[in-house]
This record gives sequence, C-alpha cells and structure tokens, in this order.
Amino acid sequence: MDIKRVEEALKGVIHPVREKDIITLNMVEDLKAEEGLVKFKLVFPSPDPLSSSIKKSCEKAILDAFPAESPKVVIMELVRARKIEKRLNLELGQEQLANVAHIIAISSTKGGVGKSTVAVNLAVALSQEGFRVGLADADVYGPSVPKMTGTEGEMPMVDNSSGKDIILPIEKFGIKWMSIGYFVQNGQPLIWRGPMASNALKQMVLQVKWGELDYLLIDLPPGTGDIHISVVQDIPISGAIVVTTPQEVALADVEKGMNMFRNKDISKPVIGMVENMSWFTPEELPGNRYYIFGQDGGKRLAEKFNIPLLAQIPIVMSIRENGDLGTPAAIKGGAGGEAFKKLADKIIDIYR
Ligand SMILES: Nc1ncnc2c1ncn2[C@@H]1O[C@H](COP(=O)(O)OP(=O)(O)O)[C@@H](O)[C@H]1O
Ligand SMILES: [Mg+2]
Repeated sequence: MDIKRVEEALKGVIHPVREKDIITLNMVEDLKAEEGLVKFKLVFPSPDPLSSSIKKSCEKAILDAFPAESPKVVIMELVRARKIEKRLNLELGQEQLANVAHIIAISSTKGGVGKSTVAVNLAVALSQEGFRVGLADADVYGPSVPKMTGTEGEMPMVDNSSGKDIILPIEKFGIKWMSIGYFVQNGQPLIWRGPMASNALKQMVLQVKWGELDYLLIDLPPGTGDIHISVVQDIPISGAIVVTTPQEVALADVEKGMNMFRNKDISKPVIGMVENMSWFTPEELPGNRYYIFGQDGGKRLAEKFNIPLLAQIPIVMSIRENGDLGTPAAIKGGAGGEAFKKLADKIIDIYR
C-alpha cells in the first residue's frame, strides 16, 4: 500500500481544538503501510479528552481511502510531552527555571493597554494547544491575574524541604499561576519601591516551583524603569513581547522599552509587538470595524522598530467581561478567543 496515500488520508483528520491536521501537528509517528495493514503511533503532547474520537477518525479516513483493500488499522495512542532540554549555565538562584523551555516577558510602556489580558489569554491559548504553561504575574503595582483567572483569595503553599522557601503555584485551567496578588490583602495598594519591588517581582519568577514547562510567561509591570532593567537582567528570558494600543503615540517611550531589551548588557530579543484594542466590531454589525483608538498605530510602530506585528486584537465585549468573571475569553473561543489562538500559533512557530 502506498504510504504517501495513507499520509494523504491522515492529513484529512483535523484536531478539533488545535484546528490543524494530525500530520502537520506531528502527531503521527512510525507510520508503516504493508499489504493489508496500516500501523502507526498517534502521539498526544498531553492527556487529551479527544484522543479516542481522533483515533476513530483516523481509522475511518484510512478505510475510506482504501475501500478495496480494507486494511487492518493498528493505532497505538500515546501521551508524550516534548522533552525539555535542561537549561545549562543557570546562575545561582535560577534553579527553579531549569526545566522551563521558553520564558517570555510581556511588557508595555504604560498601564491599561491590556498587557495582563494578553498574557492570561495567551497562556490559555498555548495550553489549549497542548503545551505546559505557567504565568508569573510580576506586576507589583497592579497584579490582576488572580481576578482574571478567578483565583482571588487563594493562598499558595510554601515548600521548605530544600531548606529554602519555594512557593507552589496555583493550578487552574491546567495552567500554573503565580501572582504577587496572592500575598497582599484585597484592595490594599502596593507601595513597594526600588529594590523591594524588584525583589518581590523576581521572587514571583525565581522562587516558584514551576517544574517542567514549555512556556513561562511573565506579566511585567508597565514602564521601563530601573526595576524592569534589574529584572530583565536577572531572569533568563528567551524573548519579550511589547503590547500597545493603536493610540500609543509616545514613540519615545516605546523606543525606551525596546532599548531596555536591546541594551548590550541585557540583549534579549524582542520577538514582536501585539496591538490590542485594534478596532471594535459590534455583535449586531459583524462586518463593521470602528477604529476607536486610531488605525494601525501598533503596526506602524512594529515597522519602525523592525519587529514582527504578532497580532491585532479587537475590542470584544466578552474579553472584558470574561476578564472580570475570571474565565479568560480564550477558553470560550468566539471572536475574542480566536485572536488569542492566532497569537499563540505565531509564538509556537517562533519557538518550534
Ligand atoms: N481586547 C480587549 N477587548 C475588550 N476589553 C479589553 C481588551 N483588552 C483589555 N481589555 C480590558 O481593558 C482593561 C485593562 O486591561 P488589562 O489587561 O488589565 O491592562 P494592563 O495589564 O495593561 O494594565 C481590563 O478591564 C480588560 O478587561
Ligand atoms: Mg496588568
């Protein structure tokens, strides 16, 4: 039997959540096609409730493609997380990041542009593609991850078995969350400055038992001050995403932000820009786009700084509502969720 034709048939099997075919998703391994027998491994990156229905679709696709031969189809399902290469050359204090593959900082030059919304929904979208994800909310001035994930009031446990205090992250939606917000009284303003703020912030990343992760996202506080520089220097980040709105006119501020990562002592790649609140489309007029904050401001900035524009995310009422409810929009799909899924796909491509 022609193995190419078997592959062709399997290309027609789409993973309903990951929305790609199983060949493109690298889920098929050791494919063998002999007379009257097709055999392969169907590999899932994490336990998947859809595995048996996908397996059935594979059988059907093959039988449909070879009605005359009607081969026996043997599929071995297995769950196998991608192996993470242990990080080498870690500095003292970075041990908890030894099994974290990619660390991505989410930054912005000012508050309120949707940095946390992007961070939380990107975490969910990456997790839905089968990756192991953690998010450190290091915004010491306005930690919003507990609220956005419905984990307010949770109190992380501390593991002292190594003689050092290591904080255990809160797990929800299959993602590991850590936030300075878990350690402060509700509504109490944070007035940390200078070294105290940067230490608290670093703890949210370095003193947390992350275990094995494909992606660790860091929600940085807005701005580009000394605190940021010290943090970016001390955490082995793989790359940074800058979030803006189309309205962000303060070119000089963005430039400062870029220079913070590109500075020769720091030298961390900015992997791209996310333009948030790009336009508004009312549900009753799905064809209309209203550019409330101006059009393509983020796109132009990305061009100016010669970095990719990773996404334009529309203003969607359910993004705001779900943020307030603690059920991120990316879980539910729809117009909001779709934009974050596209962003996740771009990130996955970059680090493939
Ligand atoms: N694309 C969007 N559509 C609708 N509301 C949004 C969108 N992005 C952010 N918001 C809302 O705007 C507010 C500020 O977002 P937030 O993520 O907290 O910003 P930041 O972390 O940059 O301060 C929140 O209420 C959030 O729900
Ligand atoms: Mg925020």
